[in-house]
Amino acid sequence: MLFPEGVLIDGVTGAVSPATGRYVKKLSTLRDLYETPPLVDAYLAEHGDVDAYEVVEYRPDGSDVCFGTTIMAPGRIGSEYFLTRGHYHARSDRGETYYTQSGEGLLLLHSRSGACSVLEMRAGVCAFIPPAWAHRSVNTGPGKLVFVWTCTSDAGHDYGEIATRGMRQRAVERDGRPTIVPNQNYRD
Ligand SMILES: [Fe+2]
Repeated sequence: MLFPEGVLIDGVTGAVSPATGRYVKKLSTLRDLYETPPLVDAYLAEHGDVDAYEVVEYRPDGSDVCFGTTIMAPGRIGSEYFLTRGHYHARSDRGETYYTQSGEGLLLLHSRSGACSVLEMRAGVCAFIPPAWAHRSVNTGPGKLVFVWTCTSDAGHDYGEIATRGMRQRAVERDGRPTIVPNQNYRD
């Protein structure tokens, strides 16, 4: 039997208490997602293999819903902002929400039919991610980007399609501002 529980989420650090799991993504594991992978090598040589982002989960066994936080470090590879892997859900009938707690970012989305969207991520904005839209978060600010995600436990992740084909859009700095540009490497 599942019991109710109040879970404390720190909107600045992204700490979740109690949490059921967490993982860290190192920058080196994201190398080939960037427009210019050799620039990742140069970054790694200068800064070491930094924690690009961390995911902390509250995923009770047997529950139909789960939630957690993603904590993204700030940074750029050349002009391209630090990013998450990006994924579709394994189930194409499962959506998600991203409720930004602190920091600044952009949420890149596209559908398989070619529709694209970009949503602002800043404290107070709760992004609705419909089913069957690929999504990737980008930290465009000077500090951490922290957001709370909520989805169904059976949504699943399909990272492979984005790893192979890429996202349709990239978020880069142009003239000191975040700018969305088409991904020249996208494989249609
Ligand atoms: Fe998702």
